[in-house]
Amino acid sequence: MDIKEITLQELNTDKFIEEQKKSINDATAGDIAINALSVGVDSSAVTLLGHKALGNRLKTYFVENGIMRQDEPQRVVSVFKKLGVPVEIIDAKDKFFAALKGLTDPEEKREAITQTFYKDVFGDLVKKSGAKHLLQGTIYTDVEETIAGIKRQHNILSQLGIDTEKEFGYNVVEPLINLRKPGVRKVAQALGLPEETFKRPPFPGPALAARVIGEVTPERIALVGIATQIVEEELSSSGAFQYMAILHEDKVTGMRNGKREFGLQIEVRCWDTADAVTATPTNVSFDTLRKLADRMTNEVPGVVSVTYHIATKPPSTMEVV
Ligand code: XMP
Repeated sequence: MDIKEITLQELNTDKFIEEQKKSINDATAGDIAINALSVGVDSSAVTLLGHKALGNRLKTYFVENGIMRQDEPQRVVSVFKKLGVPVEIIDAKDKFFAALKGLTDPEEKREAITQTFYKDVFGDLVKKSGAKHLLQGTIYTDVEETIAGIKRQHNILSQLGIDTEKEFGYNVVEPLINLRKPGVRKVAQALGLPEETFKRPPFPGPALAARVIGEVTPERIALVGIATQIVEEELSSSGAFQYMAILHEDKVTGMRNGKREFGLQIEVRCWDTADAVTATPTNVSFDTLRKLADRMTNEVPGVVSVTYHIATKPPSTMEVV
């Protein structure tokens, strides 16, 4: 890879912030730029860095793609309002569900999300705002895994030989490309983001679509959304790097109220890792696992089976898609 990593030991946050402000200014050369905020620390750090560099020459959007957790847009918008950064919410739910319709292959699902974001949604926003540049929070690990052919991360473009100017009509600027997640958290803290943002567990770009095996529909996203909320409530005190609920495609025979129920399966994953390159399952107590199972089977309609994932990465990956 010809991108150089800046390790946590090497990182001087003040120097990094000043250098990146300058390079964002150089790269955008007086033009308008846009960026899309999600819930994660990477896009939050880029948003604040971009606003410090460009002021109102940066337009920030939150793309409501329908595959996020509940209440996400309002929460994020209010965090940034307090920081003086206006964020416009763009409703693109129908576009994403239309693009995902009928797809079951993981890489095809990822590709559909990438195309919808970059061609469709950002393409429109660039036209609407007159922007020539998109600022985004790609980090070193995203590039590494995509180039290794493990998983097509949703935000990898030029590193795969895609000419964004030609394909989508704008240039992509990536201020965090030399950092891994712990470095981004340090920069986010130094930028003045609140603790709930810089400590937030990572959440993937393809969002809950990465946690649905098989077709992604509004109904299946709603189910995995409830399961996600339960996992987050029960495991946030675990100290783990990331925890997630996965909706399986296969159904299994269960029973409820004395009757057969051919029902759904939820898999819970909880990971310990420093950098997401390798990871081990967290040693969650059996009592917690049992509580999770009871809540899933009671609160997520149709769930009759709950499992806990115990393999390491590799050969697993952290997300299921
Ligand atoms: P995997 O599943 O590759 O996940 O072991 C490693 C870390 O990356 C996150 N992840 C993504 N993040 N876009 C992202 O921004 C993606 O397409 C994507 N896929 C996985 C995952 O949540 C974990 O933290």
